[in-house]
Amino acid sequence: MNILILGSGGREHALAWAVMQNPKCDKLIVAPGNAGIAMIADCATLDIEDGGSVVTFAEENSIDFVIVGPEAPLAAGVADRLRDAGLLVFGPSAAAAKLEASKSFTKEICDAANAPTAAYGHFTDAESAKAYVQSQGAPIVVKADGLAAGKGVIIAETVAEAETAIDDMFSGAFGGAGAEVVIEEFMQGEEASFFVLVNGTDVLPMGTAQDHKRVGEGDTGLNTGGMGAYSPAPVLTDAIAQKALDEIIKPTMAEMAKRGTPYQGILYAGLMIENGQPRLVEYNVRFGDPECQVLMMRLGAQAFDLMHACADDRLPEARVNWADDHAMTVVLAAQGYPGAYDKGSVIGGLDALTEDSFQMMFHAGTSEKDGQITATGGRVLNATARGATLQEARDRAYAQAQAVDWPQGFYRRDIGWRAL
Ligand code: AMP
Ligand code: GLY
Repeated sequence: MNILILGSGGREHALAWAVMQNPKCDKLIVAPGNAGIAMIADCATLDIEDGGSVVTFAEENSIDFVIVGPEAPLAAGVADRLRDAGLLVFGPSAAAAKLEASKSFTKEICDAANAPTAAYGHFTDAESAKAYVQSQGAPIVVKADGLAAGKGVIIAETVAEAETAIDDMFSGAFGGAGAEVVIEEFMQGEEASFFVLVNGTDVLPMGTAQDHKRVGEGDTGLNTGGMGAYSPAPVLTDAIAQKALDEIIKPTMAEMAKRGTPYQGILYAGLMIENGQPRLVEYNVRFGDPECQVLMMRLGAQAFDLMHACADDRLPEARVNWADDHAMTVVLAAQGYPGAYDKGSVIGGLDALTEDSFQMMFHAGTSEKDGQITATGGRVLNATARGATLQEARDRAYAQAQAVDWPQGFYRRDIGWRAL
């Protein structure tokens, strides 16, 4: 098969790495890709949020199957355009991608499906939002309704902080994403990510992971896209995962199907777990980044079969062949991230790394020029490894991170501390 993956991050490098190991893959193109992906697949320049361009590109390149990595093309309806053109796609319609693109929509679906989640209010003006905050007290969570690249969530410790966040959102600090605001009860507990393949009302758990969203060691400092992750997530025991499926995922997916907007693709449920009870924090309509890297490291080539079965209406016959192993990824980011950072610094030491089915350096924001790899983003590399134990995976991942010669980069030294 000729396969096209859309995206350019560590997530897409990991997806490409898994897909190209599968014997069904004859040709792999990733658009736009990055320097690491270019070492294992063809990369193409393409506006991946423009459905018309993606359809034309897929037709011109005789693509049989498209895997959409990030949320923006999904929210823009790229999967719809591809399906309209008769192409096989892994990823939800724009209508189903609202589960990530609108927080108030997801809350409403949870209400209709009776799925456990935080109590909330939904507001279109600052005054009533503030009145709600005053009635609820702090801590409380203020969220921009729309897509805000992971930055639209403020955990307010005081009522005053919440009021400032409300003013910021309604005055356009998050652009159109903040025109509507969701205010939520602050949930206590431990967070974990549950990845489930969904095709309408068919569901198949693909794996669990935990990530570290804060930039600093001990989970302190600013929120980022994720500084590292590990799989499986010990807090998501089989019993809790089953509860999440039965009480949250299946009922909400049934509600989506009932409304005529069935979901297809990977569903990423961010869960808060307290006293054995999972509650939904959020849905994402794509793999997490960097959670995808640890899932792909563990699944390898079968990840392709699973995604293909999901897109091809064969999910009930698919099985995940789980190895009893653990994986970890450590993100190497440019100094300054998640704030301002420089681009263009040269990264050395990559050629000498051992890369095999136990350890891979997945690239995110990299490009290649005159034979040198340079940093072009905030999150730049993902040192990823697996092992029989989490400690073994950790040792391998950190040995890889340490071997990189990049003075302008940094990484957290404590990924997995909770589980270890
Ligand atoms: P989100 O973009 O909705 O995932 O929010 C980002 C992060 O904020 C989550 O991963 C949680 O750590 C935290 N968060 C969001 N909503 C809540 C909540 N209601 N209670 C506690 N923490 C939350
Ligand atoms: N690592 C969090 C996310 O992909 O949303």
